Amino acid sequence: MILVTGGAGFIGANFVLDWLSLMGEPVVNLDKLTYAGNLENLASIQGDARYTFVQGDIADGGRVRELLAQYRPRAVVNFAAESHVDRSIHGPDDFIQTNIVGTFRLLEAVRVYWGSLAAADRETFRFLHVSTDEVYGSLSASDPAFDETHRYEPNSPYSASKAASDHLVRAYHMTYGLPVLTTNCSNNYGPYHFPEKLIPLMVVNALAGKALPVYGDGQQVRDWLYVKDHCSAIRRVLEAGQVGDVYNVGGWNEMPNIEIVHTICALLDELRPRADGRYYREQISYVADRPGHDRRYAIDARKLEHELGWRPAETFESGIRKTVQWYLDNPQWIDRVQSGAYRDWIRIQYAE
Ligand code: NAD
Ligand code: TYD
Repeated sequence: MILVTGGAGFIGANFVLDWLSLMGEPVVNLDKLTYAGNLENLASIQGDARYTFVQGDIADGGRVRELLAQYRPRAVVNFAAESHVDRSIHGPDDFIQTNIVGTFRLLEAVRVYWGSLAAADRETFRFLHVSTDEVYGSLSASDPAFDETHRYEPNSPYSASKAASDHLVRAYHMTYGLPVLTTNCSNNYGPYHFPEKLIPLMVVNALAGKALPVYGDGQQVRDWLYVKDHCSAIRRVLEAGQVGDVYNVGGWNEMPNIEIVHTICALLDELRPRADGRYYREQISYVADRPGHDRRYAIDARKLEHELGWRPAETFESGIRKTVQWYLDNPQWIDRVQSGAYRDWIRIQYAE
């Protein structure tokens, strides 16, 4: 079996669902259930004998040690993190605590557990750390895409904390021989994405008749990957990645934010036209830019393609259509995640 951390969040939940349906191997999901963790994401596997949920903090070393001793996983996949750049600007503490201290405590517990395994199990054990392209910093329009050797130049408290966690993971391999793998992926989108991030925020605001807040000039470029393609990349790296190596994961799909917003508006015009016959793009509102806003991210995923034969299955056109349709089909999920705490965040962030 495997231990997943952060499995009730956006990517972790998609990973657990796909893992059980495609691999069938039991999973224990350790999640603190912060504002971003939502057990409803995994309602469809509640009661499945192959699935165990444990509420807990990766920074709680004693708890993690107990879990490892009890379940004896052959791998740990670490999704648990604070993940939203804007929140890291308003309050970095939780990012330092979970992303840095939490990853450290998790690594410590895993190191002790790994050391206690029989030689054959030690050989096959893996610790896969899920990270982000944001650790590499910002590119100009003409720079080549990030490859795995690009220097780390994080610009937000979020990306700096993820960079620190990547370094710790590397150090545990170099120093203690822990069999680690790291993936650095570009921006994901898809089902169960919390509506504080660009794509789901635009969908839910559009449907609610609210403003669509575009930061600065809207020309910041991100590479977008459908979440299930990220999950397939993680499965592939876990299966065949070179121990100690880093793999960049991306969708070969760079787009300026404003184009993403226009695409969502056009899909909604088609799938759920406004009652007043007007276009959703009329709801776009340019707002103050994010401080330290990275201009462009782009991922060179050729190593993963050439060494491990991975390619995304979804194009942006097919993935974004599925995503918008998922939000249209799941109004209750949207209603429930927009709880009091969510409303507080929106008020703070978009006050002006
Ligand atoms: P998310 O914010 O949706 O989910 C994070 C999950 O981690 C939540 O369920 C939360 O409850 C849990 N968690 C937080 N702190 C914890 C702690 N101390 N102990 C245990 N659980 C804790 O995030 P996501 O978008 O699903 O991202 C998952 C991982 O992938 C993160 O490490 C993130 O840095 C990375 N990543 C995300 C993206 C993206 O576009 N979303 C891209 C590349 C990499
Ligand atoms: P986000 O989804 O927060 O991901 P990240 O910052 O990790 O890339 O934001 C994606 C892009 O969209 C980023 O350039 C910031 C921009 N953005 C907006 O323009 N308006 C918004 O309301 C949000 C949340 C993001």
